[in-house]
Order: sequence, then C-alpha cells, then structure tokens
Amino acid sequence: MTDPSTWTAVDAYIGSTLVSEDPVLEACVRSSEAAGLPSIQVSPVQGKLLYLIAKLQGARRILEVGTLGGYSATWLARALPPDGRLVTLEINPKHAEVARANLARAGLADRVEVRLGPALESFPKLAAEGAGPFDLFFLDADRPNNRAYLDWILRLSRVGSVLVVDNVVRRGEVADGASVDPSVRGVREMIDALASEDRVSATVIQTVGKKGYDGFLLARVERLTTKGPRGRTEGAGPDDRAR
Ligand SMILES: C[S@@+](CC[C@H](N)C(=O)[O-])C[C@H]1O[C@@H](n2cnc3c(N)ncnc32)[C@H](O)[C@@H]1O
Repeated sequence: MTDPSTWTAVDAYIGSTLVSEDPVLEACVRSSEAAGLPSIQVSPVQGKLLYLIAKLQGARRILEVGTLGGYSATWLARALPPDGRLVTLEINPKHAEVARANLARAGLADRVEVRLGPALESFPKLAAEGAGPFDLFFLDADRPNNRAYLDWILRLSRVGSVLVVDNVVRRGEVADGASVDPSVRGVREMIDALASEDRVSATVIQTVGKKGYDGFLLARVERLTTKGPRGRTEGAGPDDRAR
C-alpha cells in the first residue's frame, strides 16, 4: 500500500501545476483559520474538481449544504455565469459571518447567498419560496442527515440535476455494515436509499490525498417520477428530458 505521505506529495505536485490557488482562495483559508474555524474545507484539487463539475454541468443554480468559511463556495460560484446563483446553507453563525466576508472579498457576494440555520429548516423554506430547480448540489455537512437531505434534493431537482456528496468513504468504514459511527450510518442510509431509488443514477469514487482516504458520491437525477416496482434501469429513459 502506498505511504499516505505520497498522497500528500501528489496533491502538492498537482497543486503546483494544474490547480494553482490564487490569492483570493488563499486569503479565504487564512481568514477562516484566523477566525478559529476548523480546517476541514475541501482541498485545492477537490475545489477545482467541484469547479469543473459545475462548468461541465453548465450550472446556473447551485445549492451547497455546509458553508464553513466559503472555500468550496468560492470554487463553485466562480463556475457560475454572471446571472447564476449559489445558495449555501450553514448552521453556525460564526461560520456564516466569516464566509460572507470571504465571499464579498472574492467579489462573489452578488451571486452567493449564505443562508443561516439548520439545513433541514432551510430546505422547506427554499421549497416554499419556489427556489430551484438546482442544477448542482454539493452536500458537505452533517452526515447523519444525508438521507433526509436526499429527499429534499430530489424535490428541488430537475432531470439532469447532479449531486456531489463529500466524505462518503470515511477511511473505508463505509463498507462496515456493523459500524455504529453516526456519520458512517448516515452515509450508508443515503447509499441504501439511492440503491433502491430508480429516479437517480449514482456511484462512489474513492479518493486519497492530503485529506487522507475518503471519497465522493456522484449522482444524476434521471427522472422525476418513480417507475415503480419494475425498478431501476441505468441510462436515459423516455422521460429523460432536461427542463
Ligand atoms: C466540512 S464543513 C464544510 C466545508 C465547506 N464545504 C468547504 O469545503 O469549504 C461542514 C459545515 O457544515 C456545517 N453544518 C453542520 N451541520 C449542519 C446543518 N445541520 N445545517 C447546515 N450546516 C451544517 C458546519 O457548521 C460546517 O461549517
């Protein structure tokens, strides 16, 4: 097995070649750390991956759950067209305040809304406001609620909406069905739900890097109505039309 220091070295190499962080992103991390926020944001190579996914998706409306200091939000918002919009949900008032300042410094305040409150309270409000459908969702908050978030995400989706979920492998513990870790259980509940969900096509890709051994879940909404007991068919169905 490769030494974990090799993963960090490769991240550093990619970071110095393909993913150069600019002063705005560096300032975002610095000011978050100075404010005492935990250093648990996505890595630069992961941030660039989110940016590329948003670009590939042509995302105009993005919903993020878990803002922290606004680092991933900065990557995602930079992929938006000028009239695009990112809503990012954050439960911690201090995190939200730091993120708002960082996003304003990044010149992104006009297209990003940091919405304060537990995501499970913000989702119904967004639905009641008629927000969405969102083109891209990034889930990076409290894992035990992942299953509940999935239900709301489906309500706020269109055919073709994409979901990215961070931290779903958890050093391999996701494969342990007997785990009592609430985050592992939360991820497994979401994966179980997706496995029996014929509206969505999903997979998980394992990752290593400076953040250790983990992984992303990637999913696409294939249809808005369930096909019923006949179950899942991978690939485009007759109702697979982008709205
Ligand atoms: C891993 S951090 C997010 C990192 C961020 N996406 C980035 O990469 O820059 C998780 C964030 O989710 C927030 N959070 C946790 N539970 C939440 C909830 N129920 N509703 C909204 N935000 C929550 C935490 O306060 C924390 O700021």
